[in-house]
Amino acid sequence: MAGLATDPAYYDDPYPSYERLRERGRVVRNGFVAGTVDHAVANAVLRSDQFSSSALGELPGPLQRLHARVRDEDTLSPVDPPSMLVVDPPVHTRYRRLVARAFTARKVGRMADRVESVAARLLDDLDGEPTFDLVGRYASQLPVAVIADLLGVPDDERAQVLGWGNHAAVTLDPGLTWAQYRSSSAALREMHAWFDGHLDRLRRDPGNDLLSQVLADPEAADLTRMELHGIGLLVLGAGFETTVNLIGNAVALLDAHPDQLAWLEDNPDGWANAVEEVLRVDSPVQLTVRFATQDTEVADEAVRAGEGVLVYLGGANRDPGVFSDPGTFDVRRDNAGEHVAFSAGIHFCLGASLARLEAAVALRALYERHPDLRVVGRPERRTTRVLRGFEYLPVSTLARVPAA
Ligand code: HEM
Repeated sequence: MAGLATDPAYYDDPYPSYERLRERGRVVRNGFVAGTVDHAVANAVLRSDQFSSSALGELPGPLQRLHARVRDEDTLSPVDPPSMLVVDPPVHTRYRRLVARAFTARKVGRMADRVESVAARLLDDLDGEPTFDLVGRYASQLPVAVIADLLGVPDDERAQVLGWGNHAAVTLDPGLTWAQYRSSSAALREMHAWFDGHLDRLRRDPGNDLLSQVLADPEAADLTRMELHGIGLLVLGAGFETTVNLIGNAVALLDAHPDQLAWLEDNPDGWANAVEEVLRVDSPVQLTVRFATQDTEVADEAVRAGEGVLVYLGGANRDPGVFSDPGTFDVRRDNAGEHVAFSAGIHFCLGASLARLEAAVALRALYERHPDLRVVGRPERRTTRVLRGFEYLPVSTLARVPAA
Protein backbone atom coordinates (compact mmCIF):
# COMPACT_ATOMS: atom_id res chain seq x y z
CA MET A 1 0.00 0.00 0.00
CA ALA A 2 2.95 2.27 0.64
CA GLY A 3 4.10 1.52 -2.91
CA LEU A 4 0.65 2.36 -4.26
CA ALA A 5 0.86 5.72 -2.50
CA THR A 6 4.42 6.64 -3.48
CA ASP A 7 5.85 4.55 -6.33
CA PRO A 8 5.76 6.34 -9.72
CA ALA A 9 5.22 2.95 -11.41
CA TYR A 10 1.78 2.95 -9.82
CA TYR A 11 0.22 5.55 -12.06
CA ASP A 12 1.42 3.65 -15.09
CA ASP A 13 -0.13 0.41 -13.93
CA PRO A 14 -1.62 -0.10 -10.46
CA TYR A 15 -3.23 -3.43 -11.31
CA PRO A 16 -0.39 -5.84 -10.44
CA SER A 17 -0.16 -4.20 -6.99
CA TYR A 18 -3.87 -4.81 -6.44
CA GLU A 19 -3.37 -8.50 -7.23
CA ARG A 20 -0.58 -8.68 -4.68
CA LEU A 21 -2.92 -7.17 -2.09
CA ARG A 22 -5.65 -9.64 -3.06
CA GLU A 23 -3.32 -12.56 -2.37
CA ARG A 24 -2.80 -11.25 1.16
CA GLY A 25 -6.44 -11.19 2.20
CA ARG A 26 -9.76 -9.39 1.99
CA VAL A 27 -8.61 -6.65 4.39
CA VAL A 28 -4.87 -5.96 4.52
CA ARG A 29 -3.04 -3.83 7.10
CA ASN A 30 0.33 -2.11 7.02
CA GLY A 31 0.41 -0.85 10.60
CA PHE A 32 -1.09 2.56 9.74
CA VAL A 33 -4.09 1.88 7.62
CA ALA A 34 -6.18 -0.98 6.24
CA GLY A 35 -6.93 -1.55 2.56
CA THR A 36 -9.19 -3.71 0.42
CA VAL A 37 -9.52 -4.78 -3.20
CA ASP A 38 -12.39 -7.12 -2.37
CA HIS A 39 -15.70 -6.25 -4.06
CA ALA A 40 -17.94 -7.39 -1.18
CA VAL A 41 -15.81 -5.68 1.48
CA ALA A 42 -15.66 -2.48 -0.59
CA ASN A 43 -19.44 -2.45 -0.90
CA ALA A 44 -19.92 -3.23 2.79
CA VAL A 45 -17.58 -0.42 3.92
CA LEU A 46 -19.05 2.15 1.51
CA ARG A 47 -22.63 1.32 2.53
CA SER A 48 -22.00 1.06 6.27
CA ASP A 49 -23.21 3.77 8.64
CA GLN A 50 -20.38 2.80 10.98
CA PHE A 51 -17.84 4.54 8.74
CA SER A 52 -17.32 8.23 8.09
CA SER A 53 -15.90 9.73 4.89
CA SER A 54 -13.89 12.28 6.87
CA ALA A 55 -10.77 11.68 8.92
CA LEU A 56 -11.21 14.92 10.82
CA GLY A 57 -13.66 13.66 13.42
CA GLU A 58 -11.25 10.83 14.16
CA LEU A 59 -8.27 13.10 14.92
CA PRO A 60 -7.30 13.58 18.58
CA GLY A 61 -8.64 16.85 20.10
CA PRO A 62 -5.35 18.83 19.96
CA LEU A 63 -4.86 17.97 16.27
CA GLN A 64 -8.43 19.02 15.51
CA ARG A 65 -7.78 22.37 17.19
CA LEU A 66 -4.50 22.79 15.31
CA HIS A 67 -6.27 22.02 12.04
CA ALA A 68 -8.95 24.62 12.81
CA ARG A 69 -6.21 27.23 13.42
CA VAL A 70 -4.12 26.60 10.29
CA ARG A 71 -7.10 26.02 7.97
CA ASP A 72 -7.27 28.70 5.31
CA GLU A 73 -10.80 28.76 3.92
CA ASP A 74 -9.74 30.38 0.67
CA THR A 75 -7.53 27.45 -0.27
CA LEU A 76 -9.96 24.66 0.63
CA SER A 77 -10.11 22.07 -2.12
CA PRO A 78 -13.38 20.66 -3.47
CA VAL A 79 -12.71 17.58 -1.34
CA ASP A 80 -12.17 19.35 1.99
CA PRO A 81 -15.11 19.80 4.38
CA PRO A 82 -17.71 21.26 3.94
CA SER A 83 -17.64 19.50 0.55
CA MET A 84 -20.48 16.97 0.57
CA LEU A 85 -18.03 14.24 -0.40
CA VAL A 86 -16.45 14.33 3.05
CA VAL A 87 -19.30 15.13 5.41
CA ASP A 88 -21.64 12.66 7.08
CA PRO A 89 -25.41 12.75 7.66
CA PRO A 90 -27.39 14.75 8.59
CA VAL A 91 -25.30 17.57 7.03
CA HIS A 92 -24.53 15.43 3.97
CA THR A 93 -28.23 14.64 3.44
CA ARG A 94 -29.05 18.32 3.31
CA TYR A 95 -26.33 19.30 0.80
CA ARG A 96 -27.01 16.29 -1.38
CA ARG A 97 -30.75 16.99 -1.55
CA LEU A 98 -30.08 20.51 -2.81
CA VAL A 99 -27.89 19.30 -5.67
CA ALA A 100 -29.83 16.11 -6.44
CA ARG A 101 -32.74 18.18 -7.73
CA ALA A 102 -30.64 19.16 -10.73
CA PHE A 103 -29.65 15.58 -11.50
CA THR A 104 -33.02 13.89 -11.82
CA ALA A 105 -33.16 11.35 -14.67
CA ARG A 106 -35.53 13.70 -16.52
CA LYS A 107 -33.15 16.66 -16.31
CA VAL A 108 -30.14 14.61 -17.39
CA GLY A 109 -32.17 13.14 -20.27
CA ARG A 110 -32.94 16.69 -21.41
CA MET A 111 -29.20 17.39 -21.61
CA ALA A 112 -28.68 14.71 -24.28
CA ASP A 113 -29.25 17.09 -27.21
CA ARG A 114 -26.85 19.62 -25.77
CA VAL A 115 -24.16 16.93 -25.23
CA GLU A 116 -24.63 15.75 -28.86
CA SER A 117 -24.28 19.27 -30.21
CA VAL A 118 -21.17 20.03 -28.14
CA ALA A 119 -19.54 16.79 -29.37
CA ALA A 120 -20.43 17.65 -32.98
CA ARG A 121 -19.02 21.18 -32.62
CA LEU A 122 -15.76 19.94 -31.11
CA LEU A 123 -15.38 17.45 -33.96
CA ASP A 124 -16.18 20.19 -36.52
CA ASP A 125 -13.41 22.31 -34.98
CA LEU A 126 -11.00 19.41 -35.53
CA ASP A 127 -11.93 18.98 -39.20
CA GLY A 128 -8.84 19.14 -41.36
CA GLU A 129 -6.54 18.15 -38.48
CA PRO A 130 -5.55 14.53 -39.06
CA THR A 131 -3.60 14.31 -35.79
CA PHE A 132 -4.47 15.90 -32.46
CA ASP A 133 -4.32 15.35 -28.71
CA LEU A 134 -7.56 13.57 -27.90
CA VAL A 135 -7.46 14.68 -24.24
CA GLY A 136 -6.74 18.37 -24.77
CA ARG A 137 -8.98 18.87 -27.78
CA TYR A 138 -11.93 16.56 -27.11
CA ALA A 139 -12.10 14.42 -23.94
CA SER A 140 -11.53 17.37 -21.60
CA GLN A 141 -13.50 19.91 -23.64
CA LEU A 142 -16.82 18.07 -23.72
CA PRO A 143 -17.26 17.66 -19.91
CA VAL A 144 -16.07 21.23 -19.31
CA ALA A 145 -18.65 22.61 -21.72
CA VAL A 146 -21.41 20.50 -20.17
CA ILE A 147 -20.57 21.31 -16.57
CA ALA A 148 -20.02 24.98 -17.36
CA ASP A 149 -23.54 25.06 -18.83
CA LEU A 150 -24.86 23.33 -15.74
CA LEU A 151 -23.22 25.92 -13.49
CA GLY A 152 -23.79 28.97 -15.68
CA VAL A 153 -20.08 29.63 -16.40
CA PRO A 154 -19.65 32.01 -19.38
CA ASP A 155 -17.75 30.70 -22.44
CA ASP A 156 -14.74 32.95 -22.06
CA GLU A 157 -14.06 31.81 -18.46
CA ARG A 158 -14.09 28.07 -19.16
CA ALA A 159 -10.42 27.60 -20.11
CA GLN A 160 -9.35 29.33 -16.90
CA VAL A 161 -11.66 27.14 -14.79
CA LEU A 162 -10.25 24.02 -16.48
CA GLY A 163 -6.72 25.15 -15.56
CA TRP A 164 -7.65 25.63 -11.91
CA GLY A 165 -9.42 22.26 -11.87
CA ASN A 166 -6.28 20.50 -13.10
CA HIS A 167 -4.31 22.07 -10.27
CA ALA A 168 -6.96 21.15 -7.71
CA ALA A 169 -7.03 17.52 -8.91
CA VAL A 170 -3.63 16.78 -7.36
CA THR A 171 -4.98 17.64 -3.90
CA LEU A 172 -6.88 14.34 -3.96
CA ASP A 173 -3.61 12.43 -3.74
CA PRO A 174 -1.75 11.46 -0.59
CA GLY A 175 1.74 12.82 0.04
CA LEU A 176 1.80 16.08 -1.97
CA THR A 177 5.22 17.68 -2.42
CA TRP A 178 5.62 21.20 -1.04
CA ALA A 179 5.78 22.57 -4.60
CA GLN A 180 2.54 20.78 -5.56
CA TYR A 181 0.88 22.02 -2.39
CA ARG A 182 1.98 25.61 -3.06
CA SER A 183 0.86 25.69 -6.67
CA SER A 184 -2.47 23.99 -6.00
CA SER A 185 -3.16 26.35 -3.06
CA ALA A 186 -2.47 29.36 -5.27
CA ALA A 187 -4.81 28.00 -7.95
CA LEU A 188 -7.51 27.24 -5.37
CA ARG A 189 -7.27 30.75 -3.95
CA GLU A 190 -7.90 32.21 -7.42
CA MET A 191 -10.73 29.76 -7.97
CA HIS A 192 -12.49 30.76 -4.72
CA ALA A 193 -12.17 34.46 -5.63
CA TRP A 194 -13.60 33.77 -9.09
CA PHE A 195 -16.43 31.74 -7.54
CA ASP A 196 -17.42 34.64 -5.24
CA GLY A 197 -17.78 36.84 -8.31
CA HIS A 198 -19.64 34.11 -10.18
CA LEU A 199 -22.17 33.68 -7.36
CA ASP A 200 -22.70 37.45 -7.18
CA ARG A 201 -23.37 37.53 -10.90
CA LEU A 202 -25.96 34.72 -10.61
CA ARG A 203 -27.63 36.40 -7.64
CA ARG A 204 -28.03 39.58 -9.72
CA ASP A 205 -28.95 37.82 -12.92
CA PRO A 206 -30.16 34.25 -12.26
CA GLY A 207 -30.08 31.77 -15.14
CA ASN A 208 -31.51 28.34 -15.77
CA ASP A 209 -28.50 26.65 -14.19
CA LEU A 210 -27.99 24.50 -11.10
CA LEU A 211 -26.33 27.19 -9.00
CA SER A 212 -29.09 29.72 -9.72
CA GLN A 213 -31.57 27.03 -8.60
CA VAL A 214 -29.62 26.40 -5.39
CA LEU A 215 -29.37 30.13 -4.67
CA ALA A 216 -33.14 30.50 -5.12
CA ASP A 217 -33.97 27.47 -2.96
CA PRO A 218 -35.45 28.50 0.42
CA GLU A 219 -33.71 25.48 1.98
CA ALA A 220 -30.36 26.97 0.97
CA ALA A 221 -31.04 30.41 2.41
CA ASP A 222 -28.80 29.93 5.44
CA LEU A 223 -25.88 28.20 3.70
CA THR A 224 -22.58 29.88 4.54
CA ARG A 225 -20.23 31.17 1.87
CA MET A 226 -17.98 28.12 2.33
CA GLU A 227 -20.91 25.72 2.14
CA LEU A 228 -21.93 27.24 -1.20
CA HIS A 229 -18.34 27.04 -2.40
CA GLY A 230 -18.17 23.43 -1.24
CA ILE A 231 -21.23 22.49 -3.27
CA GLY A 232 -20.37 24.46 -6.40
CA LEU A 233 -16.68 23.67 -6.61
CA LEU A 234 -17.22 19.96 -5.97
CA VAL A 235 -19.78 19.68 -8.77
CA LEU A 236 -17.48 21.68 -11.01
CA GLY A 237 -14.37 19.59 -10.27
CA ALA A 238 -16.14 16.22 -10.07
CA GLY A 239 -17.94 17.04 -13.29
CA PHE A 240 -14.91 17.38 -15.50
CA GLU A 241 -11.86 15.92 -13.77
CA THR A 242 -13.36 12.43 -13.94
CA THR A 243 -15.28 12.23 -17.21
CA VAL A 244 -12.20 13.32 -19.18
CA ASN A 245 -10.44 10.22 -17.83
CA LEU A 246 -13.32 7.95 -18.72
CA ILE A 247 -13.33 9.12 -22.35
CA GLY A 248 -9.52 8.94 -22.67
CA ASN A 249 -9.29 5.51 -21.02
CA ALA A 250 -12.04 4.27 -23.34
CA VAL A 251 -10.23 5.41 -26.48
CA ALA A 252 -7.00 3.75 -25.32
CA LEU A 253 -8.79 0.47 -24.52
CA LEU A 254 -10.73 0.43 -27.80
CA ASP A 255 -7.54 1.17 -29.67
CA ALA A 256 -5.95 -1.88 -28.10
CA HIS A 257 -9.03 -3.99 -28.99
CA PRO A 258 -9.97 -3.14 -32.60
CA ASP A 259 -12.21 -6.21 -32.87
CA GLN A 260 -14.45 -4.81 -30.11
CA LEU A 261 -14.52 -1.40 -31.74
CA ALA A 262 -15.59 -3.05 -35.00
CA TRP A 263 -18.37 -4.86 -33.11
CA LEU A 264 -19.57 -1.56 -31.60
CA GLU A 265 -19.65 0.06 -35.02
CA ASP A 266 -22.07 -2.67 -36.13
CA ASN A 267 -23.96 -2.63 -32.81
CA PRO A 268 -24.25 0.99 -31.66
CA ASP A 269 -26.69 -0.02 -28.91
CA GLY A 270 -23.68 -1.63 -27.24
CA TRP A 271 -22.02 1.71 -26.39
CA ALA A 272 -23.74 2.01 -23.01
CA ASN A 273 -22.40 -1.36 -21.85
CA ALA A 274 -18.97 -0.58 -23.33
CA VAL A 275 -18.85 2.51 -21.10
CA GLU A 276 -19.63 0.32 -18.04
CA GLU A 277 -16.81 -2.03 -19.03
CA VAL A 278 -14.34 0.86 -19.33
CA LEU A 279 -15.43 2.12 -15.89
CA ARG A 280 -14.81 -1.38 -14.54
CA VAL A 281 -11.53 -2.27 -16.19
CA ASP A 282 -9.77 1.11 -15.95
CA SER A 283 -11.67 3.10 -13.33
CA PRO A 284 -11.28 6.92 -13.55
CA VAL A 285 -11.42 7.16 -9.73
CA GLN A 286 -9.21 4.43 -8.30
CA LEU A 287 -9.47 4.99 -4.61
CA THR A 288 -11.53 6.35 -1.76
CA VAL A 289 -11.25 6.08 2.01
CA ARG A 290 -13.51 5.62 5.01
CA PHE A 291 -12.88 5.85 8.78
CA ALA A 292 -14.58 3.59 11.33
CA THR A 293 -16.62 5.68 13.78
CA GLN A 294 -16.85 2.78 16.25
CA ASP A 295 -15.35 -0.67 16.70
CA THR A 296 -16.90 -2.73 13.94
CA GLU A 297 -16.43 -5.73 11.65
CA VAL A 298 -16.12 -6.12 7.90
CA ALA A 299 -15.65 -9.49 6.20
CA ASP A 300 -15.13 -11.07 9.63
CA GLU A 301 -12.23 -8.67 10.28
CA ALA A 302 -12.36 -6.36 13.25
CA VAL A 303 -11.85 -2.64 12.46
CA ARG A 304 -11.07 -0.35 15.39
CA ALA A 305 -12.82 2.99 15.94
CA GLY A 306 -10.82 5.68 14.10
CA GLU A 307 -9.07 3.21 11.76
CA GLY A 308 -8.98 4.14 8.08
CA VAL A 309 -9.81 1.71 5.28
CA LEU A 310 -8.53 2.46 1.78
CA VAL A 311 -11.11 1.19 -0.68
CA TYR A 312 -9.36 0.48 -4.00
CA LEU A 313 -12.33 0.83 -6.36
CA GLY A 314 -10.14 -0.12 -9.34
CA GLY A 315 -9.08 -3.30 -7.52
CA ALA A 316 -12.60 -4.26 -6.39
CA ASN A 317 -13.64 -3.89 -10.03
CA ARG A 318 -11.28 -6.73 -10.92
CA ASP A 319 -12.41 -9.11 -8.19
CA PRO A 320 -12.40 -12.58 -9.81
CA GLY A 321 -15.19 -13.66 -7.44
CA VAL A 322 -17.55 -11.25 -9.25
CA PHE A 323 -16.07 -10.78 -12.73
CA SER A 324 -14.85 -13.79 -14.70
CA ASP A 325 -11.46 -13.27 -16.31
CA PRO A 326 -11.43 -9.79 -14.69
CA GLY A 327 -8.39 -8.34 -16.49
CA THR A 328 -9.99 -8.93 -19.90
CA PHE A 329 -11.74 -5.99 -21.56
CA ASP A 330 -15.02 -7.25 -22.97
CA VAL A 331 -17.60 -4.69 -24.08
CA ARG A 332 -20.24 -7.45 -24.10
CA ARG A 333 -19.62 -8.54 -20.48
CA ASP A 334 -23.10 -9.05 -19.02
CA ASN A 335 -22.34 -7.94 -15.46
CA ALA A 336 -19.97 -5.03 -16.27
CA GLY A 337 -22.41 -2.68 -14.50
CA GLU A 338 -21.71 -4.34 -11.12
CA HIS A 339 -18.56 -2.23 -10.81
CA VAL A 340 -18.10 0.23 -7.93
CA ALA A 341 -16.42 2.89 -10.09
CA PHE A 342 -19.04 5.42 -8.95
CA SER A 343 -18.71 4.26 -5.31
CA ALA A 344 -21.75 2.94 -3.39
CA GLY A 345 -23.98 3.96 -0.51
CA ILE A 346 -24.82 7.54 0.41
CA HIS A 347 -21.90 9.10 -1.52
CA PHE A 348 -22.70 7.22 -4.76
CA CYS A 349 -21.73 9.60 -7.55
CA LEU A 350 -24.44 12.18 -8.11
CA GLY A 351 -23.29 12.73 -11.68
CA ALA A 352 -23.19 9.04 -12.69
CA SER A 353 -26.01 9.23 -15.24
CA LEU A 354 -24.60 12.43 -16.73
CA ALA A 355 -21.11 10.89 -16.96
CA ARG A 356 -22.55 7.79 -18.64
CA LEU A 357 -24.45 9.93 -21.13
CA GLU A 358 -21.44 12.12 -21.93
CA ALA A 359 -19.09 9.19 -22.45
CA ALA A 360 -21.48 7.20 -24.66
CA VAL A 361 -22.27 10.26 -26.81
CA ALA A 362 -18.61 11.35 -27.00
CA LEU A 363 -17.37 7.93 -28.09
CA ARG A 364 -20.11 7.15 -30.59
CA ALA A 365 -19.79 10.58 -32.21
CA LEU A 366 -15.99 10.31 -32.34
CA TYR A 367 -15.90 6.93 -34.06
CA GLU A 368 -18.83 7.69 -36.37
CA ARG A 369 -16.94 10.75 -37.62
CA HIS A 370 -13.52 9.05 -37.64
CA PRO A 371 -13.85 5.30 -38.08
CA ASP A 372 -10.12 5.06 -38.80
CA LEU A 373 -9.01 6.84 -35.63
CA ARG A 374 -5.95 5.30 -33.96
CA VAL A 375 -3.69 6.20 -31.07
CA VAL A 376 -0.29 7.21 -32.43
CA GLY A 377 2.92 8.46 -30.83
CA ARG A 378 3.54 8.20 -27.13
CA PRO A 379 0.56 8.70 -24.80
CA GLU A 380 1.26 10.03 -21.31
CA ARG A 381 -0.64 9.10 -18.19
CA ARG A 382 -1.60 11.75 -15.61
CA THR A 383 0.62 11.53 -12.55
CA THR A 384 -2.35 11.63 -10.17
CA ARG A 385 -3.08 8.45 -8.24
CA VAL A 386 -6.68 8.79 -7.11
CA LEU A 387 -7.72 9.94 -10.59
CA ARG A 388 -6.56 7.67 -13.40
CA GLY A 389 -6.47 8.89 -16.97
CA PHE A 390 -4.32 10.36 -19.72
CA GLU A 391 -2.60 13.71 -19.75
CA TYR A 392 -1.85 13.39 -23.45
CA LEU A 393 -3.31 10.91 -25.94
CA PRO A 394 -2.17 11.62 -29.52
CA VAL A 395 -4.46 10.23 -32.22
CA SER A 396 -4.57 10.13 -35.99
CA THR A 397 -7.86 10.00 -37.89
CA LEU A 398 -6.27 8.35 -40.94
CA ALA A 399 -4.54 5.34 -39.53
CA ARG A 400 -6.77 2.32 -39.09
CA VAL A 401 -5.14 -1.05 -38.43
CA PRO A 402 -7.39 -3.87 -39.67
CA ALA A 403 -9.41 -5.69 -36.97
CA ALA A 404 -7.75 -8.89 -35.73
C1 HEM B 1 -16.59 9.07 -15.11
C2 HEM B 1 -17.04 10.04 -14.40
C3 HEM B 1 -17.18 10.01 -12.91
C4 HEM B 1 -16.67 9.12 -11.98
C5 HEM B 1 -15.84 7.87 -12.22
C6 HEM B 1 -17.11 9.59 -10.69
C7 HEM B 1 -16.82 8.95 -9.49
C8 HEM B 1 -17.29 9.34 -8.27
C9 HEM B 1 -17.04 8.62 -7.04
C10 HEM B 1 -16.18 7.37 -6.91
C11 HEM B 1 -17.67 9.32 -6.03
C12 HEM B 1 -17.75 8.94 -4.55
C13 HEM B 1 -16.43 8.96 -3.82
C14 HEM B 1 -16.58 8.36 -2.46
O1 HEM B 1 -17.47 7.52 -2.20
O2 HEM B 1 -15.77 8.70 -1.58
C15 HEM B 1 -18.34 10.45 -6.64
C16 HEM B 1 -19.08 11.38 -5.95
C17 HEM B 1 -19.61 12.49 -6.54
N1 HEM B 1 -19.64 12.79 -7.89
FE1 HEM B 1 -18.84 11.72 -9.37
N2 HEM B 1 -17.84 10.74 -10.84
C18 HEM B 1 -17.92 11.03 -12.19
C19 HEM B 1 -18.58 12.07 -12.78
C20 HEM B 1 -19.30 13.02 -12.11
C21 HEM B 1 -20.03 14.12 -12.73
C22 HEM B 1 -20.16 14.33 -14.24
C23 HEM B 1 -20.54 14.86 -11.71
C24 HEM B 1 -21.37 16.12 -11.75
C25 HEM B 1 -21.76 16.73 -12.76
C26 HEM B 1 -20.17 14.22 -10.46
C27 HEM B 1 -20.52 14.68 -9.21
C28 HEM B 1 -20.28 14.00 -8.04
C29 HEM B 1 -20.69 14.51 -6.74
C30 HEM B 1 -21.45 15.82 -6.46
C31 HEM B 1 -20.28 13.56 -5.81
C32 HEM B 1 -20.47 13.62 -4.28
C33 HEM B 1 -21.67 12.80 -3.88
C34 HEM B 1 -21.83 12.70 -2.38
O3 HEM B 1 -20.87 12.87 -1.64
O4 HEM B 1 -22.98 12.44 -1.96
N3 HEM B 1 -19.42 13.12 -10.74
N4 HEM B 1 -18.10 10.44 -8.00
